[in-house]
Amino acid sequence: MPRFRSDIAALHPYQVGRQLDDVARAHGLDPRDIVKLTANEGPDGPFPGVAEAIAAVVPRSNRYPDADCWDLGHQLAEELGVGFSNILFGAGSVSLLAEIGIATGGEGTNMVYGWPGFIMYRFVAAWAGSTRVEVPLTGEHSLDLEAMRFAIDGGTSVVIVCNPNNPTGTIKPADDIDAFIESVPDDLLVVVDEAYHEFVIDRRYRSAIPMAVERPNVLVLRTFSKIYGLAGLRIGYAVGRPETLIELRKAQPPLTVNQVAQAAARASLGQPEELARRRSENAARRHHLMGAMAERGLQTIESHTNFIYFHLGEPADRIVADMTPEGVLIRGMSRGWARVTIGTERENRRFLEALDSAMLGSRL
Ligand SMILES: Cc1ncc(COP(=O)(O)O)c(C=O)c1O
Repeated sequence: MPRFRSDIAALHPYQVGRQLDDVARAHGLDPRDIVKLTANEGPDGPFPGVAEAIAAVVPRSNRYPDADCWDLGHQLAEELGVGFSNILFGAGSVSLLAEIGIATGGEGTNMVYGWPGFIMYRFVAAWAGSTRVEVPLTGEHSLDLEAMRFAIDGGTSVVIVCNPNNPTGTIKPADDIDAFIESVPDDLLVVVDEAYHEFVIDRRYRSAIPMAVERPNVLVLRTFSKIYGLAGLRIGYAVGRPETLIELRKAQPPLTVNQVAQAAARASLGQPEELARRRSENAARRHHLMGAMAERGLQTIESHTNFIYFHLGEPADRIVADMTPEGVLIRGMSRGWARVTIGTERENRRFLEALDSAMLGSRL
């Protein structure tokens, strides 16, 4: 065997969830009947016009994509009210996180983030060669910004603030985020991960983009994988100061955002009615699901996203596993908690049916 870095070799490869074909085969199901509510994807497919935009660029697949994402970048900059040079695209926001790690980490560094948090942060810290500093959430399952502030030391290279937080779906008010950013040393990079920004309707929440365009030590991450329904094409972006983004770009493989993804993202922009429709539909489905869970006596955490964190108690692992043969996949978390992505109405119905029979089974 060749020699591999021991910290990377110690990892288990990231499992996005079992492949649908695999689950279908194991349980004698049709893969089309499986309801996958594990990855917080948008259930309704891409925005109108996206499929046509993709088809139009496919014949040019023999050419490399535009390395600067020029057209997309200008369109998005106008929509966000920032400059073209304030945006850097990546193959999903996860790849931007990896580049942030490469650009900032190394021996003696550490990365601070809230926990439970987005599982990929653990990988990012490992890739970066940084020690993980996982700060427990508050009793209300939201980021403990004060404890995160205290966790920062001379070796901290990055703090990740996930707002709204995955997996709990909680938000931090804008003023708290601003105060946190102001309280940290200005040579410390604060990454505000806003993967679920587009779903939030609560007025206490605001994006950190205004901070990111002002301060070289703040970056905001966004993605087209969630409300825009483009998870399969891998495209996300960072917003920040040009002098900060250029450092990330040095750590980024060139031409990482393919032209299909660029065309799809372009076609998705400029559709505020569709965006608003999806946001309110998600909120209505969330309200319904949270109500249905409350009727079943399950504790839920008020979510501002397209997923719900809920407590199943001690039999959680068994309940989650027993839903699989019914063709419904959700994510079991630690300490009796689980996370379900809000699906279409039909998918949500299937989820509740499978949950009922698995809960009944766990009591027998
Ligand atoms: C908090 C958070 N950040 C980033 C991502 C990754 O998004 P992308 O598909 O753009 O890599 C996710 C996806 O689940 C997420 O939950």
